Amino acid sequence: MAASELAGFLNSSTNKKKGALTIILSISSGMLLLSAVVYTCATKKKRHHMKKRGNREYDSEKNSTDFSTEDLDELPFFSLNSIAKATNGFSINNKIGEGGFGPVYKGVLEDRQEVAVKRLSKTSHQGVDEFKNEVFYIAKLQHRNLVKLIGYCIHGNEMILIYEYMVNGSLDSFLFDETRSSMLDWPHRFGIIHGMARGILYLHQDSRLQIIHRDLKAGNILLDEDMNPKISDFGLARKFVGFDTSAKTKKVVGTYGYISPEYAMHGRFSTKSDVFSFGVLVLEIVSGRKNQGFSHKDHSDNLLGHTWRLFKENKSIELMNASLRDSCVMSEVLRSIHVGLLCVQHNVEDRPTMLSVVLMLISEGVLPQPKQPAFFTGESYPEHYGKSSDEYMITLPYAR
Ligand SMILES: *[C@@H]1O[C@H](CO)[C@@H](O)[C@H](O)[C@H]1NC(C)=O
Ligand SMILES: *[C@@H]1O[C@H](CO)[C@@H](O)[C@H](O)[C@H]1NC(C)=O
Ligand SMILES: *[C@@H]1O[C@H](CO)[C@@H](O)[C@H](O)[C@H]1NC(C)=O
Ligand SMILES: *[C@@H]1O[C@H](CO)[C@@H](O)[C@H](O)[C@H]1NC(C)=O
Repeated sequence: MAASELAGFLNSSTNKKKGALTIILSISSGMLLLSAVVYTCATKKKRHHMKKRGNREYDSEKNSTDFSTEDLDELPFFSLNSIAKATNGFSINNKIGEGGFGPVYKGVLEDRQEVAVKRLSKTSHQGVDEFKNEVFYIAKLQHRNLVKLIGYCIHGNEMILIYEYMVNGSLDSFLFDETRSSMLDWPHRFGIIHGMARGILYLHQDSRLQIIHRDLKAGNILLDEDMNPKISDFGLARKFVGFDTSAKTKKVVGTYGYISPEYAMHGRFSTKSDVFSFGVLVLEIVSGRKNQGFSHKDHSDNLLGHTWRLFKENKSIELMNASLRDSCVMSEVLRSIHVGLLCVQHNVEDRPTMLSVVLMLISEGVLPQPKQPAFFTGESYPEHYGKSSDEYMITLPYAR
């Protein structure tokens, strides 16, 4: 984390300075310890990957980390029978969506618990061991802003993940719907922004492995009964084991409108790619408009360009959706827009880390000035991405 990045706005928030400093210090020392541990694991792991990639890795690696087989055994195993029963035989009527790697069904377990069942599609070439590997890591992730995995099922070719069911569906079903959007007042929206930020921070820094989501979007933010956000579809994201915070891939996964320029054009991704997507989400939440397909009568910029125009003219508040007029807290709206703009900067270095984002959202200090954001439209994405494949990364078949 860049200390200088934070210095500016923390300095000016005198009343909170001491508390914030303590937080930063304790986070820093925690991070240092974590880095050391992760580095050790990473070095071992890297050597491993270099030597041999593939199925065996899952077993032989266990001794080199602090995980044990019991970790996986703690996660409930479900029989295919019980899952078929819960979903009416994977009935089309139970289908609630299409995840990154296959269909998602609503199910009701024998004990009446409602669940979301993700079935790995047959066209996904993910192997059993890789799948187990994923389950193993997802099971380790626990945060109130991440959807909880409650079990798994492996049966022949069938590979299924069972998650907690989110009654209020996904954020996009509210945000971009003319009638339902009125149910999301400003306090809810600000709460969702906060919660998402904390969830992503956890993935990036606080979980034992650094995880880059790579497909953050309104459709992947689920809402519980109290409208708390829970990030989903993070399990098949890239996990990082240490020092390499930027990597290249030839498979660009992600969604137009949310994907960062360096990732879309060069296949280069890092935690800052997630920061970019988060920034887009913030601006969408404030405006109620989608970045992808955004249009304006006065110009042809997308949502990011539009926000930048308003910001420069000191008219940021006009970005806010009119339905929020009665419920909004002006300073929070302006701060959110400002942070959003910082997150969608063209240069990776100009974007804050997720830790900075969380601190910026809770403090009242002066924020750094954003520059012109990266604003391009869907049409300008290149057909082909970088060709280099990474030697020691597990390549997940994650085509869509
Ligand atoms: C892992 O540990 C077990 C027992 O602790 C040992 O029997 C096994 O040989 C070890 N495997 C490797 C690859 O080191
Ligand atoms: C406000 O949000 C609604 C719902 O998404 C959207 O239809 C409408 O266009 C937005 N208003 C403005 C002025 O952007
Ligand atoms: C969210 O779900 C809860 C529980 O089903 C429900 O009471 C509440 O009205 C829902 N919120 C919205 C905005 O639909
Ligand atoms: C921007 O707008 C705010 C509130 O409308 C005002 O107080 C401030 O002076 C303006 N700043 C500039 C540089 O015009």
